[in-house]
Amino acid sequence: MQDHLRLDSFDLSLSDIASVDVKMLHALSLGVGWPHRTEDWDMLRHTGQGLAAIDGIGRVFGTAMWFAHGTEFATIGMVITSHRFQAHGNGRWLMEQVLERCGHRNLLLNATRPAYNLYVSLGFVPEESVYQCQGEVAPRLRSFEPVKGELKGVAHADLDSIAALDARAFGTERKRLLRILARDAKGYGIWRDGTLVAYAFRRSFGRGQVVGPIVASNDEDAIALVSRHLSEIPGQFARVDTRQREGIFLSVLQDSGLRIFDTVTTMSKGRRFLKAKSGEPSIFGLASHALS
Ligand SMILES: CC(C)(COP(=O)(O)OP(=O)(O)OC[C@H]1O[C@@H](n2cnc3c(N)ncnc32)[C@H](O)[C@@H]1OP(=O)(O)O)[C@@H](O)C(=O)NCCC(=O)NCCS
Repeated sequence: MQDHLRLDSFDLSLSDIASVDVKMLHALSLGVGWPHRTEDWDMLRHTGQGLAAIDGIGRVFGTAMWFAHGTEFATIGMVITSHRFQAHGNGRWLMEQVLERCGHRNLLLNATRPAYNLYVSLGFVPEESVYQCQGEVAPRLRSFEPVKGELKGVAHADLDSIAALDARAFGTERKRLLRILARDAKGYGIWRDGTLVAYAFRRSFGRGQVVGPIVASNDEDAIALVSRHLSEIPGQFARVDTRQREGIFLSVLQDSGLRIFDTVTTMSKGRRFLKAKSGEPSIFGLASHALS
């Protein structure tokens, strides 16, 4: 496969994203209006692998990352090309390089509108919409019946049960990612009869705080968890990415001040990803677009 790309008057080669100055990655994502801070880039680089398209003097013209979970599955994200040189072949080139490195894994990504056709042409199939809900958290939140069971903060010792619950919802075990997220996150869980039945993390990201992943088996549990998190940050900027269109979860987010800002499309290549069954745990809030 082509390991150089002629882009306008620039000759681009590939570099391991881990070796690139984070300030240049940050400038690239700012250039396309993404909110990632340098800390967010560092966290993603620590979690996954990636490529940067650079010119002869080390300037970054594009990136693409993948986050492998074992040998069977990976998510793809942080696919960005320099705003000034889009529609010149750079995005396709980077994606082809990533696909080669992901091998035979089943793949998942969340496509923005400008990227959608590119991914279709590379064999990705649309599954569902993701609603990016964000805004300043309302000073007072709607109140609900107390949740059945016990809602309390999660501890480090809960990581195994969180990972087991999460794997049922996500379809693939992602304990390493959860351990990384947990380091800087606040987490709440719901226990019934001594068993963890729902959990949600909250961490700093971009302009404020993101609540996710959120895993629950019903609206009530998911709402109780997200409300607990949001009640701790009134007036602050918060974000939840969700695929839940039915039920009241989405309207509770909106009532809490988190309006739909954008929509992306979950797409898969290989095995179909989404297979929610009623009563089974499912993903109410994504960890992030790149991590899913
Ligand atoms: C999406 C993105 C990475 C594409 O990068 P790019 O360098 O323009 O990609 P390419 O030049 O290889 O174009 C890929 C295909 O998309 C098409 N395309 C490019 N920009 C497009 C746009 N704004 N709208 C519709 N189609 C577009 C191209 O025509 C091309 O099709 P072709 O290969 O059949 O001719 C780039 O637009 C970008 O960084 N956007 C902002 C960040 C983003 O949304 N990233 C995607 C995250 S999922």
